[in-house]
Amino acid sequence: VVLVVDFGAQYAQLIARRVREARVYSEIVPSTMPVAEMLAKNPKAIILSGGPSSVYAEGAPRLDRSLFEAGVPVFGMCYGFQLMATTLGGTVDNTGAREYGRTPLAVSRPGSTLFEGTPAEQSVWMSHGDACSAAPEGFTVSASTDVVPVAAFENDEKRLYGVQYHPEVLHSTHGQQVLEHFLYRGAGIEPSWTMGSIIEEQIAAIREQVGNKRAICGLSGGVDSAVAAALVQKAIGDQLTCVYVDHGLMRKGESEQVEKDFVAATGVQLKVVDAQERFLAALAGVSEPEAKRKIIGREFIRVFEQAQAEIVAEAPNDHPVAFLVQGTLYPDIVESGGGTGTANIKSHHNVGGLPDDIEFELVEPLRQLFKDEVRMVGSELGLPDEIVHRQPFPGPGLGIRIVGEVTKDRLDLLREADAIAREELTAAGLDREIWQCPVVLLADVRSVGVQGDGRTYGHPIVLRPVSSEDAMTADWTRMPYDVLARISTRITNEVADVNRVVLDVTSKPPGTIEWE
Ligand code: XMP
Repeated sequence: VVLVVDFGAQYAQLIARRVREARVYSEIVPSTMPVAEMLAKNPKAIILSGGPSSVYAEGAPRLDRSLFEAGVPVFGMCYGFQLMATTLGGTVDNTGAREYGRTPLAVSRPGSTLFEGTPAEQSVWMSHGDACSAAPEGFTVSASTDVVPVAAFENDEKRLYGVQYHPEVLHSTHGQQVLEHFLYRGAGIEPSWTMGSIIEEQIAAIREQVGNKRAICGLSGGVDSAVAAALVQKAIGDQLTCVYVDHGLMRKGESEQVEKDFVAATGVQLKVVDAQERFLAALAGVSEPEAKRKIIGREFIRVFEQAQAEIVAEAPNDHPVAFLVQGTLYPDIVESGGGTGTANIKSHHNVGGLPDDIEFELVEPLRQLFKDEVRMVGSELGLPDEIVHRQPFPGPGLGIRIVGEVTKDRLDLLREADAIAREELTAAGLDREIWQCPVVLLADVRSVGVQGDGRTYGHPIVLRPVSSEDAMTADWTRMPYDVLARISTRITNEVADVNRVVLDVTSKPPGTIEWE
């Protein structure tokens, strides 16, 4: 393992991903972790991330010198670089001169461990105030900028390296190459972390954990639960049963995707619970968004628990159902406490928000993976693209995309409009560019239109295409007008009772992605 020491401000996750792109397994640890504890993990290398502090600021995170004396190769980036410089006796000046953004870097030792094969001048991403003016003893300087005399230093004997810039961001044109040079040349690591190796490792771990007991898994139609289930199925076959609660709030073709395509691709044992009537009955007369969400969540748990009880009852005594499979991802673990335990995983990550008091041991085969890695594992396991590259879809489904009461007719209408929008977005090749595009029915709003010879009095459909990295913030996607025009024409022609299509041009914040 390569440890990425997190000095804050989101850099560590990106670095960990880049290390994995170099096919080396990486984990993030907080900078507060004692050095002895880091070394106990037997890291093949340690990377010190950037961070928001100045090394001279009071209370700025520090590192014990022993980290650099343990014989483990270390690579410092930005704040990590400055920390390394000051800890080892170099000079960092608190000049106050900031260098920010894309900066030309002059490489003075083009054949060095870090820079071999990269151009003498390359563009790097800088973000710092202090500047290193003298490298610690035993280090040679291999690059500089107009502002920073020491922008990279290397000590091959001690296998310690550092750069002032952020090699992990794409604006640093040769950043990935420099990082790989550190890993392969500096630290002598053989790249071996591949999707195939992840799958093999996980299958062995799942078999060991589950033994001859049984497991269940709730499928939501989303990527994470599908890949987790496929992986567990591969490991323990029919000891796994998947449960799919069809609440009738899915989009057109989605239930079929789970019931047919997913089963065909994995051979998984699936229990489908048709709960459409039940959800419609529970939602009757309700239009307040939070009330709808609560009802859908509550009904989901009830139906899932019932299905679970049935599966448990069917199990022979010698093979108890003891495990619940969940598609928890690495970012969830990191964000909930740096991978130090399973105790405080965000509860809302669970499929449909399953209750905390569920009496199962968790199987979380994706807990080391980032989303893009999950998709790769899914493809490697033979899941269809429609599942692996699915856009995010909320647990409460179309129930929170009908502004007003949820009825069967309205759901059918929205399903048609949504299917048209998705079809046209796919045809225009916009699926990867658009994070997600909710299609919303304003069921309580009517407007006057004219169609053929007659007056219409119908409902508007809202298109909400957004671009985002993580759904925490988002911007509305500047979509080509001709694609919008095709969607609008088709929806108003093909979907009865819709006579208007409008585009939502609000970013998040202040709007949320969903309308409810
Ligand atoms: P908002 O509307 O809060 O949505 O900007 C952010 C992201 O979360 C999705 N979303 C949900 N996902 N259960 C889920 O599993 C929910 O209750 C839920 N509500 C919103 C939404 O689609 C977007 O990707």
